[in-house]
Amino acid sequence: MELIDGKKISAEVKQEIAAEVEGIIKNGGKKPHLAAIIVGHDGASETYVAAKVKACHQVGFDSSEFKFEDAITEDELLAEIEKVNQNDSIDGLIVQLPLPKHISESKVIETIRPEKDVDGFHPMNVGKMVATLPTYLPATPAGIVELLKRYKIETSGKNCVVIGRSNIVGTPMSVLMSRKASHGDCTVTLCHSRTKNIPEITREADIIIVALGMPEFLTGDMVKDGATVIDVGIHRIKSDKTKSGWKLIGDVNFDEVAPKCSFITPVPGGVGPMTIVSLLQNTLIASKKEIY
Ligand code: GUN
Repeated sequence: MELIDGKKISAEVKQEIAAEVEGIIKNGGKKPHLAAIIVGHDGASETYVAAKVKACHQVGFDSSEFKFEDAITEDELLAEIEKVNQNDSIDGLIVQLPLPKHISESKVIETIRPEKDVDGFHPMNVGKMVATLPTYLPATPAGIVELLKRYKIETSGKNCVVIGRSNIVGTPMSVLMSRKASHGDCTVTLCHSRTKNIPEITREADIIIVALGMPEFLTGDMVKDGATVIDVGIHRIKSDKTKSGWKLIGDVNFDEVAPKCSFITPVPGGVGPMTIVSLLQNTLIASKKEIY
């Protein structure tokens, strides 16, 4: 069994991005600039946005963070997005999700100019992805593809099972794994809450990508020997074995599943760090105006 070290790979990719940014600056270009909008005080969202801002600085990007209270109205938030849309010094914009209930996520996403939508959530960019046109790929699926590539994990003709059909991870992941590409070409099954007999399906899988948000959902009996398992879940649970009293676990029962795998991502240190790296890659692409 080989651990897929997302922390190490993300550090490598960040170095590559930093070197490219240095070259851009030397040639008189400007630093890529990512803006993040965050609404309210959700602890996990604040942690994610802080990590994204930190990563920007590590690779030499500019970043701006715009924080608003829960009480902001939808119209006010859309007006703030419009300001960033019009600001030529900002290349990429993300609005951290989830948003308060009184604000429509789809309205927010559709207000971001597709040129600046470095999350790849705008319907225009989702459509381009499905049509295999150049676009911003959503960060978590793109990060997973990067891990499979860098670990030279064979995907062509393999059975890939994706568990979870969210707009952010499961659905785009299933598209990327099935498409004709150096790290696609899989036969993909997309499982979700209405799927019957998930264990029967996962036992046939060469690659299992678990993104349904249920702690330790995938157990040892659901995995065939030699499979590659990618764990997108992250949950903080109480533990009397750690100093902090908390520990992070994924959607995979690691202790049961890992011994059966050829490759597996740990939690933390697997998929998580790659998500941020993909966002940086998209922001670099945005600053070079390579797509729009
Ligand atoms: N919330 C959870 N994941 C994401 C993400 O990738 N982007 C944004 N904007 N919000 C998220």
